[in-house]
This record gives sequence, structure tokens and C-alpha cells, in this order.
Amino acid sequence: MQKKIISELGKKDIFRILFESAGEGLVLVDSEGRILLVNPRIEELFQYKDYELIGRHIEILVPESLRDKHIHHREGYTSHPRKRSMMGTDLLGQRRDGSTFPVEVSLNYFRAEDELLIMGLITDNTERRKAQMELQKLNTELEERVLRRTQELADAIRDLELSNKSLEKAQEEVRNALDKEKELSELKSRFVSTASHEFRTPLATILSSVSLIGKYTGESEAGKREKHITRIKSAVHNMKAILNDFLNVEKLEEGKVLNLPQTFSLREFMEELADELQTLCKPGQEIRYEHHGEGDLVTLDPRLLKNIMLNLLSNAIKFSPEESVVELLSLVTPDRVSVTVRDSGIGISQEDQEHLFQRFFRAKNSINIQGTGLGLNIVRSYVELMGGEISFSSQLNSGTTFIVELPSHTLHP
Ligand SMILES: Nc1ncnc2c1ncn2[C@@H]1O[C@H](COP(=O)(O)OP(=O)(O)OP(=O)(O)O)[C@@H](O)[C@H]1O
Ligand SMILES: [Mg+2]
Repeated sequence: MQKKIISELGKKDIFRILFESAGEGLVLVDSEGRILLVNPRIEELFQYKDYELIGRHIEILVPESLRDKHIHHREGYTSHPRKRSMMGTDLLGQRRDGSTFPVEVSLNYFRAEDELLIMGLITDNTERRKAQMELQKLNTELEERVLRRTQELADAIRDLELSNKSLEKAQEEVRNALDKEKELSELKSRFVSTASHEFRTPLATILSSVSLIGKYTGESEAGKREKHITRIKSAVHNMKAILNDFLNVEKLEEGKVLNLPQTFSLREFMEELADELQTLCKPGQEIRYEHHGEGDLVTLDPRLLKNIMLNLLSNAIKFSPEESVVELLSLVTPDRVSVTVRDSGIGISQEDQEHLFQRFFRAKNSINIQGTGLGLNIVRSYVELMGGEISFSSQLNSGTTFIVELPSHTLHP
């Protein structure tokens, strides 16, 4: 059946039909580049008609700016002809009206009667190029979207990291609060055992003094009664001091101790303090006070300073023998206040000096002397709260000196 149709039409006719109805443009040129034959599709693509192209150079179909280059290429091809398809390159064709459009070109060659003939197959690439451009545009958009999403993702991750950090911070705060709570409860239980131990001595003193007072009923025994009443007072004072220490530590821990400076005379303050503490002194002990400096007005928190001085002076009294002098010196300069407490007592060994300000620390040589080991820890906290510094020097068995330096804005009258 197929054979029959072909033989009826004749081969030449078939080729003519194929040539004329082909969707691609076909062009035949000689070795000089002259057009020998075009199919109607070429005329349609390049807007020529009625054999106008025949005999013209193939360059007529090439944009003017590219013609020289094309001649060069064509000559190269003619000297080394080969089958070649030029797809995907940005080839352009030029229509009769000068407008250009993208094309795809396949080349082949053959020889007829010794003449090299070149056949070109030209396809209009407009649609394909459009599709390509569309695809490229979509690709670019897609890339942009991916980029945007990546950025959004990075932002989200950063936000997440930030909230993670604040979560960690909150955790840290909770942990710190818990640690503090734990420390405080340890402090409390430690205090209970220390206090119950430290309370035993003054309570025993009170008990024995009270029962003795009961026995000294006579007129002549008033002196003895008085002695025991003084003992009771001092024992109560001790217990009060221990309780105060503990309450002070708790307040410090909770940040409830405030530094509230006011202006007062340091000399009067110290004189009163020395008087007050004279009652605590052992027989023959004396607190000797001296003030140096031009004025004596200072601006400091008097309650904090009193606590500091009470602790330092009661230590000096406690850790030095009867018949000794406790020196108390104050110095006021325009911007600093310095207070020195010097005793000639048991001193502190080099080894113990390192731990002196630790809570509950007591030096080996003071085990038999009453105390909880809270005093200096509180003193240091108060000094720091007032923006000052505390230092000391000590020699075992010969004495100890504590120096407190505080910033103060002295007001001259
Ligand atoms: N002037 C001093 N001379 C010798 N040792 C001292 C002196 N001051 C302090 N120390 C030593 O430092 C330790 C700690 O002093 P701190 O004032 O903190 O405790 P404390 O006096 O024993 O008890 P608290 O003051 O709580 O009643 C004392 O136990 C003592 O060993
Ligand atoms: Mg003390």
C-alpha cells in the first residue's frame, strides 16, 4: 500500500512536497555562499517572496552587525565542511524589514558534479526562546524565593536561639536563687548548732549567777549581788550579739541592708562607742581613742559603721589580755575616712589569716574564746557596701591591727 502511493506520486514529487511543506526552513547555498534554493518556509520566516532570495548571499539572512563574522565562519566551514548543528547558541536571523529573531541552524553538505553545496536547516526559535526566558524567569523567582525562605529560616533559628538564651538565663537565675536559698538554709542550720553551743556558756553563767544572787541576801552582800548582775548583763549582751550577727547575715543575703549615709561628727561617734564598749572590757583593759585630721565631720551610714566598729572592738577586747590597751584611731581627710583598731592580743597565725573573713571561720588559738565566726564576715560585707576596704596585719602572740578605709564627702562647717 505504502509502496503504491510512493510510486504513484513519484520520488521527485515526494521530495518536492517534503521540501515545500516542511515546518523548518531549508536553504541551499554554493561554496561562495550564494543562495541556490529556499523552501517557502524560509520566505515566510524572513518575509521574502517569489525567489527574491535566489542568487543573494546567505548573509542577507544574518543581522548586519554579524555579517562579517558570518562570512569568516562560512569560509571556514567551506574549507572544512562537516555536519553541524548550532543549537542553543544565541543565533539571530534578520528579516527583510531589518527585525531580528532567534534561530536554530543545522548545516550539512554534499557535492554535486564536483561543486560543494551546503544545506541549512533553519528553525524559528522565538517560541523556544520565549519558553526558555520564561523558565529562566521562573528559575530566578524560585531562587529568590528559596533565598527569602532561607533568610526567614535563618531569622527563625536566630529568634529561637535568642529565646533559648533567655531561657538559659532564666534557668540560671532560678538556679542561682535556689543556690542562695540552699546556702541560706545551710547557714540557718549551721547557725542553730553554733548558737545552741554558744548560748550554753552565757546561759550557764546566768543560771549560776541567778542562783548565787538568791543566796546573797544580806545587806553586806550587795557588792557580790552587783557583780553577778553585771555578769548576767554581759552574758545577755553576748547572746544578743550572737542573735544580731545571725540576723545581719540573713539581711545581707537578702539584699535588705542599705547604705544610707548622713553627716555626723566622727569624733563624737567614736567617743560614745568607746564609752559604751568600756563596759565589755576585761579588768585593767582600756580603749584609748585618738582622732587625727583637720575636721571630724563625715558622711557615712552610722548604723553600718557602728556595726563594723562593734565587731572590730569586741574582737580586740576578746582576743587580748587583761591590763592591755586597745587603740582606736580615726583619721579624716577631705575624701577619705580611715579607722584603725589595734590590740596587743593573741594574734592570728599566718595560716589562719587567709580564711579570716570566711563565714564561721575561727582561728585555732581562739577555740576556747566565745564567738561564732560571723563577725568579720559581716564587717567585710558592710565595708564593701559602703564602697570601702578592710585590711589587717597580725603577729601571733603579739597583736593585731585592723584598718578600715571608707570614702566620705566631708562637709566643713
Ligand atoms: N583582734 C583579733 N585578734 C586575734 N584573733 C582575731 C581577732 N579578730 C578576729 N580574730 C580571729 O578571727 C576569727 C573570726 O573573727 P569573727 O569576729 O568573725 O568571729 P568571732 O569573733 O569568733 O565570732 P563573732 O564575731 O561572730 O562573735 C576569730 O574567731 C579569731 O580567731
Ligand atoms: Mg567577732
